[in-house]
Amino acid sequence: MQKTLIIYESKYGTTEKIAKYLSLVLGPAKYCKTSEFKDEFKDFDLILLGSPIYSGKIVPKIIDFIEKNINWLKTKKIALFCTCISTKDGNENLTKLEKILGKVITKRALGGILKHNKLDEEDSQALKEFSEKIGFTFDDTDNFNLEDIINYGLELKSLKDDLIPLMPSLQLKNLIEEFLDSHNTCTLSTSYKERVRSTPIEYTYNNCYIYLISEGGEKFANLLLNNNVSIAVYEDYIGMNNLAGMQITGIASLIGKNENEYKDVITRKGLNLNFINNMVVNMNIIKIKIIKIEFLYSKFKKMGYEPKQIFIFD
Ligand SMILES: Cc1cc2nc3c(=O)[nH]c(=O)nc-3n(C[C@H](O)[C@H](O)[C@H](O)COP(=O)(O)O)c2cc1C
Repeated sequence: MQKTLIIYESKYGTTEKIAKYLSLVLGPAKYCKTSEFKDEFKDFDLILLGSPIYSGKIVPKIIDFIEKNINWLKTKKIALFCTCISTKDGNENLTKLEKILGKVITKRALGGILKHNKLDEEDSQALKEFSEKIGFTFDDTDNFNLEDIINYGLELKSLKDDLIPLMPSLQLKNLIEEFLDSHNTCTLSTSYKERVRSTPIEYTYNNCYIYLISEGGEKFANLLLNNNVSIAVYEDYIGMNNLAGMQITGIASLIGKNENEYKDVITRKGLNLNFINNMVVNMNIIKIKIIKIEFLYSKFKKMGYEPKQIFIFD
């Protein structure tokens, strides 16, 4: 599994909070201050460096850390973030850091919080002097934006997923299809605004699509308003060396009763079309176009590959 290490500094807690939230989205992950860094962390795959901006600059401890560790850092995928009131200050500093590091995969200036009554004497004075120097006064400001932070986390997660060494795609697709064909029940998750619904439901898989037969119910209240779905197919947990579960991202549509595909699905399922058509209630078929499958399968590790593999369907 690709691990993320977040190395940060923070005096008033905002950068620390961001490091913590990003670590939750990016897990398996660890966040630590520069003083807490240990040599054993050098085997993490993605390194994220985060610093607040004080008086127009990145915290010196972060610069020192980079200079002392530049050799191994240059062999890693690195991303950056800073916490600031002025995005311009943040971006300028991140560009400077990027130059020191050679190359980073992405960087982001995130909104910080400044409360004058929380600052210690030294920082109050430093901020006063800096404000006089640049001719600009920093008022109390709260630019902390959780959605921006989460979006950056998801962007980083996608870049991190790109680092996974994948097995040959035909082999992976075959193993995915074998797993889907050898199971028959999934959890379908649908949502619309505040409403979320997880439905245990029997499925059939056929040629990149998942089909669900249903009498109806609350899932349709979501599906009719939002056709983005997530599906989980998995085995019971028996131990960390026997993990087997996939998260499927897909797009749902309904198949009309008069379409040939409706008949095909019913027949493939071994059901009698006349019987279905003569039932007193309607039988609805949901068709899900698979977009992506994230498959955590310990078997992959035994085959010499990363236990998590990702397959994107055309
Ligand atoms: C002494 C001091 C100087 C600051 N100077 C800047 C600055 O030059 N530019 C900026 O955008 N933000 C500046 N800030 C705002 C900080 O970047 C913001 O408060 C950040 O959230 C602090 O992070 P922390 O809570 O992790 O310590 C300054 C804050 C302090 C306390």
